[in-house]
Amino acid sequence: MPAEIGTVLVTRRFGDEENKQITSYEANGGYKIARAAMAKSPEEIVDQIKASNLRGRGGAGFPTGLKWSFVPKDATDVHLVVNCDESEPGTCKDRELVYWDPHLLIEGMIIAAHTLGAVHNYIYIRGEMMREYAVLVKAVEEAYARGYLGDKIMGMGNQACHITVHRGAGAYICGEETALLNSLEGLRGQPRLKPPFPAIKGLFGKPTVVNNVETLMNIPFIVDQGGQWFADLGVGRSGGTRTVCVSGHVEKPGVYELPMTITFRELIDDICGGVWKGRKFKGLIPGGTSMPPLDESEIDVPVEFDALMTDERIKPVEVTAGVNFDMGGGRELRTMAGSGGIVVFDDQTDVVALTSRIMGFYHHESCGQCTPCREGTGWMDKICKRLMNGEGKVGDVDLLGNIANGIAGNTICALGEAAAWPMMGFLTKFRSEFLAKEVIGKSEDGEGEAA
Ligand SMILES: Cc1cc2nc3c(=O)[nH]c(=O)nc-3n(C[C@H](O)[C@H](O)[C@H](O)COP(=O)(O)O)c2cc1C
Ligand code: SF4
Repeated sequence: MPAEIGTVLVTRRFGDEENKQITSYEANGGYKIARAAMAKSPEEIVDQIKASNLRGRGGAGFPTGLKWSFVPKDATDVHLVVNCDESEPGTCKDRELVYWDPHLLIEGMIIAAHTLGAVHNYIYIRGEMMREYAVLVKAVEEAYARGYLGDKIMGMGNQACHITVHRGAGAYICGEETALLNSLEGLRGQPRLKPPFPAIKGLFGKPTVVNNVETLMNIPFIVDQGGQWFADLGVGRSGGTRTVCVSGHVEKPGVYELPMTITFRELIDDICGGVWKGRKFKGLIPGGTSMPPLDESEIDVPVEFDALMTDERIKPVEVTAGVNFDMGGGRELRTMAGSGGIVVFDDQTDVVALTSRIMGFYHHESCGQCTPCREGTGWMDKICKRLMNGEGKVGDVDLLGNIANGIAGNTICALGEAAAWPMMGFLTKFRSEFLAKEVIGKSEDGEGEAA
């Protein structure tokens, strides 16, 4: 049976200061699943995770069981790293998850570490999240004191599991897994070329699995109740529930754990109290600002991973006449579930100003290693700003499309796409608003100038 509204796993302790303490966590069965998992073989657990259809909640939706199986079986010195950087604009679920249920994350990590044979493990948390950092440090200390972490965990002579909580300095790019690993190693937070992938050569050159906070918090439920149970909660190839964070122009913004089957329209109207101030809906960003937007005609699609990429009701992105961007696997770019950061905007929103704000962010956060991203994000930022300020030139709209097209697929990491995809999406779905600004800004003779 697919989950219904009100079925909650990872957010079940939200709002309860008492229940997030270790005594209360234990009293409600906490750490029993990790203890039971110690008796299971890694193969058995990986099989359950694969059967569960758990997909990474960090952005790409990659199958977690498959990712774990990439670590070579005879590997030594494996590391597990939790990505708690949560830097994607519009995304604020991981900080809440960590704050309200730190022991669920630690329990998920212990099970994952046992499965991967990982001894020295890390939680990389965004520097600004001081409140959550303090909660995590306390929870890790409590887990050490109770013997859930240490050299011989749970009284077992052959099992060691250590966790270090490490604060980043607050750079968007350090959420990208290889930049994160560089930052953990004390290097400049810049992405590495792949391959080799972290599962083969990651932290300190050793096989490493990087997983998002929410991904790992689902692990105890799967190990306890079985992969099939978790798969059945979801739909198709997406198991379990989805935690989304809704912001922008709705009456009730917030972090919500929901069935995969709920549509964006239901989410806005039934969960978030509708568009604010009695205004009309104009569009939304479905999974952090790096994802192409949806307009009013496209929001009867479920929040599930595959629907966002393949549903025929979502228009494929067309950048300039005759140019379609292919996101791989032969699919034209529609959009993706991404980080779960849903940003709703009403009918009074200036889409060009919104896009300009987004491009400014990616320009600022580009690490500068690759020319298409370093220069292209800067050009898109500059052109969007001049359009927004009424100084646009004839040809600017096509120019933006061509620049975005030149970035996507031509960079070391996906920050390039994170800037190019929304640019293409906004240009396609709200093209007339960009063209209107181009006309307003053209020179008096109507010719305009080159960029
Ligand atoms: C520019 C950029 C920023 C990212 N930021 C985050 C982030 O803040 N948190 C996160 O979990 N994943 C982030 N990711 C995705 C990670 O690289 C990685 O895929 C993810 O942590 C894997 O975990 P999962 O398989 O559990 O989703 C980012 C990716 C890119 C390209
Ligand atoms: S795509 Fe951008 S952020 Fe990523 S490595 Fe290249 S320059 Fe750096």
